[in-house]
Order: sequence, then C-alpha cells, then structure tokens
Amino acid sequence: MDNIINSKGITILGSTGTIGVNTLDVMSLHPDAYHVVALTANLNVDKMLAQCRRWKPQYAVMVDEQAAEKLSLALKDDDIEVLSGVDSLEFVSQLEQVDYVMAAIVGAAGLLPNLAAAKAGKRVLLANKESLVMSGKLFMDALHENNATLLPIDSEHNAIFQCLPVSGQQGVTKILLTASGGPFRTRDINTLHDITPEQAVAHPNWVMGQKISVDSATMMNKGLEVIEACWLFDITPDKIQVVIHPQSTIHSMVSYNDGSVLAQLGNPDMRTPIAYGLAWPERLNSGVEQLDLFEVARLDFEKPDFQRFPCLRLAYEAYKSGGNATIALNAANEIAVEAFLRKKLRFTDIPVLIEAVLEQSITGTSEQIDEILIQDSVSRQQAELWLNKRSASHAGA
Ligand SMILES: NC(=O)c1ccc[n+]([C@@H]2O[C@H](COP(=O)([O-])OP(=O)(O)OC[C@H]3O[C@@H](n4cnc5c(N)ncnc54)[C@H](OP(=O)(O)O)[C@@H]3O)[C@@H](O)[C@H]2O)c1
Repeated sequence: MDNIINSKGITILGSTGTIGVNTLDVMSLHPDAYHVVALTANLNVDKMLAQCRRWKPQYAVMVDEQAAEKLSLALKDDDIEVLSGVDSLEFVSQLEQVDYVMAAIVGAAGLLPNLAAAKAGKRVLLANKESLVMSGKLFMDALHENNATLLPIDSEHNAIFQCLPVSGQQGVTKILLTASGGPFRTRDINTLHDITPEQAVAHPNWVMGQKISVDSATMMNKGLEVIEACWLFDITPDKIQVVIHPQSTIHSMVSYNDGSVLAQLGNPDMRTPIAYGLAWPERLNSGVEQLDLFEVARLDFEKPDFQRFPCLRLAYEAYKSGGNATIALNAANEIAVEAFLRKKLRFTDIPVLIEAVLEQSITGTSEQIDEILIQDSVSRQQAELWLNKRSASHAGA
C-alpha cells in the first residue's frame, strides 16, 4: 500500500466482460502502478464477487437491483460499498480518486457513464464504440472542454493512434482499417440464412463478448468502427479504406503522401491495446506473447464485399445521413443481435431489420443528450415493432 500515492486509481465499467477481465489481467502484472477504485457489472454476481475478493475495490456496482442485493449480502463483512442503478455508473466514473476509466460496458448502456468520465476530465480508455456512434460530437466536445484524455482501446483504433503523427494529421492520406472478415468470409453466400448463434459467436481469431462477436460476423462491427474512426480522428469516411486481413496480425495502418504506410502488428490479444492505454505515453508488459512472424508466415488482404456484408454498407449510409441515423443504426442493431442470439431472427434478417428502421426517414443530428436518448428509444421501439410484425406474419403463415 506504500505505493498507492503514485498508483493510478481505476474504475472499470463492465469489469465482468471480456475487456474488463483482460484489463484486470494486465493490472495484475503491475500491482504498484494501478489500483481498482470501482468495478461495475449488470447481472453477473458470481464473477463480480470473485473480482471484489481479489481486488478489494472501494465500490462495486451491479446495475440490476436484485443482483446488487445479492452481492451486498455476500460482501456484508467486507469494506466494499455495493451500489445499484444506472446513476451509480456515472457516480463511480466521476470520483475524485479515479484517474482512469476503462469504458467497457457493451452497447448503448455505456453512453452516460462514459460521458460522465469525459466531463470529469478523466483518462478514458474507450472500448465501448457504441457511445461514440451515438453521440460523436457531444462526446468529443465533452472530452475537449474538460481536458479529458481519450485512448482508443479497440485494437484497430489503437493501432491507428499509434501510427498517426504525434499531433495533427500532416501528410496523412488514408486510414486503412483492417477487418478479419469474421467466421463467414468464405462461406457459400446462399447458406448464410442457416447460421446459428453458436456459429456466429465463434470468431476465428479473437475471444470476445457475444454482441461484438455477432457484429464481427455481420461486419457491423467494422461499420461501427468506421464511424468511431471518423469521430476519433476527425476524418471523413472516404478517407477510410476497410481492408479484409484474415490473419488479424496487422491491426490497422495509416498511409502518408510520401508513399509510406505505417502499420501496427501484434498477436490478436486485447491486452496489448489495454496496456498501451494504461501506460501511454510509455509502454508496459501486457503479458502478451511476442509476435512470431515466421509462424504468421503470410499476410493476405481482400476488398470487403457489400453483398455478403450489407451491414457495412448500412453503416456508411447512416453516417452520410447524420447523427440520428447512426443512433438508429446502433439501436436497431442491438435489438437485432439480441433477437438473433435468442433465435428469434435469422442471421440474414439482421440487416433487413436495421434497414427497415433506417428507412423511417431519420434525418438531422441530435446534439443534446436528451434528444440522443429519445432517438435511441424511438429506434428501439421501431425495431421491436418490426420484430413483432415479422413474428405475427410468420405465425399466420
Ligand atoms: N471483446 C473485445 O475483444 C472487444 C474489442 C474491441 C472493443 N470491444 C468493445 O468493448 C465493449 C465490451 O465488450 P466485451 O466483449 O467485453 O463485452 P462483454 O464480454 O459482453 O461484457 C460486457 C460488460 O458490460 C456489462 N453490461 C452489460 N449490459 C449492461 C448494462 N445494461 N448496464 C451496465 N453494464 C452492462 C456486463 O455485465 P454482466 O457481466 O453483469 O452482464 C459486462 O461487464 C463493447 O462495446 C465492445 O464493442 C470489445
């Protein structure tokens, strides 16, 4: 505890998820450099309890009230304050003793706490891309106005951040955003409708949560990342080339006007960008094995196929239509993915549902948080309505 004065205090939003667990894993290699102030989750009491016992945070948040009661009972003899509800996520993102906030809640639920961390001037380690897709301008303004620092944790954006000039974008001609192509890159396109959730979540290179795994299979993940990159790096989509690179060894590249292309390479392991975010501008041992190029042996590149991956096309179109369309894209995608995981929607109907919501003449850009949340909620209702109509018509058929 002697070193706690120099040690950085961290809140991990979504500590029980894949990114949260990897963050704790990197931190465990550097016990004097970082300590946990708060951990948060939604429902997973068992995992949170184990993390609390190991990390002894000051606060543990379970958004779900019953889950919080269960955790509170299990921790009644420990000196850990258990909180519940969405407001508590914002509370633990703004605490004075917190230096860094790992933003690793999945989906739109991450928006308010991430925004709270930005407003409190924290170093935000941003894994949750959905919040930028929903509120790009508002979020970036909040960061700048409050001297907060943003370190991208998505491996591609982290790679781009490493390859860009230290300040400005002098000489940058293009960002080359790599994508693995997911598990169905070469599957017969006529059989895509038969894909099961189990097949969709089995990513060939990365171990990730269920939602992002399905997003990778549809390539909506890359679509969300194109939008994320536009906001993070103040660039337009025509300057972003998606490059399918099945080995996931190059995590992204930046092209310069002198013909140079800078790339960041490494094994596909999220502990590398997490360690970079924690240590920046220095470097830390992440526990990740060094890349063996002889084992990789070859690097392949392909152009993305919009027919196979209509979600990627929809993301480009939504960005062009404005902020409200990207909120709708994200909301409809979250509903569609959840329905697919519950076996209520076919894999190939995910883009059909999203397009149906986007067709409801969504224009303009909401810049206030209340308007953003209303657009999100309206788009979710439209997506649910589409799903209900679809099941009613199937039941009647
Ligand atoms: N995994 C990756 O390799 C990767 C890479 C790049 C970016 N990302 C991004 O990082 C984020 C997290 O991804 P992940 O793969 O770590 O997801 P995950 O494994 O599904 O974990 C999600 C975390 O969020 C919590 N959560 C879920 N719903 C919530 C809600 N309504 N309110 C509060 N907390 C909630 C979960 O708590 P419970 O466990 O209690 O449900 C869990 O701690 C996503 O935005 C994803 O796009 C992930």
